[in-house]
Amino acid sequence: MLNFEFKNPTKILFGKGQIANLAQEIPQDAKVMLLYGGGSIKSNGVYEQVKNALSVFNVVEFGGIPANPEYAILMEALHIIKSQGITYMLAVGGGSVIDGVKFLSAAALYEGDEPWDILKKSIKTEQGLPFGTVLTLPATGSEMNSGSVITRKETQEKLAMGGPGLFPVFSVLDPQVVQSIPMRQLANGITDAFTHVLEQYMTYPIGALLQDRFAESILQTLVDVAPKIIKNSADYEAAANFMWSCTMALNGLIQKGVPGDWAIHAMGHELTAMFGIDHARTLAVILPGHYQYNFEAKKEKLAQYGQRVWGINSGTTDEMAKQAIEKTVEFFHSLEIDTKLSDYTADCEGTAEKISQRFTDRGWLGLGEHKSLSPADVLEIVKMSY
Ligand code: NZQ
Ligand code: ZN
Repeated sequence: MLNFEFKNPTKILFGKGQIANLAQEIPQDAKVMLLYGGGSIKSNGVYEQVKNALSVFNVVEFGGIPANPEYAILMEALHIIKSQGITYMLAVGGGSVIDGVKFLSAAALYEGDEPWDILKKSIKTEQGLPFGTVLTLPATGSEMNSGSVITRKETQEKLAMGGPGLFPVFSVLDPQVVQSIPMRQLANGITDAFTHVLEQYMTYPIGALLQDRFAESILQTLVDVAPKIIKNSADYEAAANFMWSCTMALNGLIQKGVPGDWAIHAMGHELTAMFGIDHARTLAVILPGHYQYNFEAKKEKLAQYGQRVWGINSGTTDEMAKQAIEKTVEFFHSLEIDTKLSDYTADCEGTAEKISQRFTDRGWLGLGEHKSLSPADVLEIVKMSY
């Protein structure tokens, strides 16, 4: 195992009815801004629960943060935060609302003129405006990590940011919220969390035995609960396991001491920026080609994953590794997730060239666990997804 430090300051309140306890986590004299998305919380009862819990506070609301949180809209919220002296934020939503609030947390204390620079120039946030979250959609793990991804329509960009100052102070995880999530978003959540684990696992053997088992246990749990949750989102036991798996997939634990890939996410973000494809679906589009293209480098871990997660127990390493890729694609298809770019757009032509050029322009010259994938490799991988 490589050297590592591990610190995760986010407090988790997990379980039925935990929304009612959130007020205890917020300083009594806080001027709170409650931020949410397009309105799902108003129809599923979460908004009411949150408002009741916040009844002792002075609360300003900001709704309308869209999926793939949009910079221009967040700038409106930033203006209110500054003009009204907001001291604490509560994000109620999925990854998009939470990521939007992380951007605001950084931007509220940022001293430069143009907050987009935080993303463009990869400025790390050491300290942000404090915030908590009420998670309504298990998927991204944003509720227990310090990363955020922000979209800017004007320039068709989607960039990541982060830093130790951007962990939520607390996150409420009540699995009952899963009940109202539409099938498409449930499938997205499973696929995103599954790929988060793979990005941190599908590299090369490094002797991190426990880390491998942690990762495999999250994958196995997701495989196990996926059909149950798709069949009945009110299945509390399945929802609880789904929710905790998504959080554990990207809260830093399984990443410690092991190499990470993250090239699938880097390419996927471009597909969302260019075509507006749901984040998770872009991952399912890139993943098969990425693993085929990097087969030699990844085949030992692919075969181990095939054996331990999918029960493939015969054949050579190469054969088991190939089958493992096939099993993964079948799994995505079982969730009605399409795995070809042409399933989402008729405009595939030129996409690979454009993404490859963007990476060159940004100086992203070596992606993946070996930092060896050049823009020319990216071109080939994206082409394989058409
Ligand atoms: O906006 P509302 O009306 O709330 O509806 C949302 C939205 O339309 C709906 N929804 C959420 N909870 C619901 C619900 N509908 C019914 N019942 C509920 N309980 O679901 C839709 C999608 O929500 P969104 O937050 O966009 O989804 P997700 O959690 O998948 O977040 C995606 C964003 O997170 C980023 C992605 O790039 C994307 O921008 N990611 C963030 C990461 C992080 N911070 O660590 C890592 C990820 O890899 C990812 O990049
Ligand atoms: Zn993701």
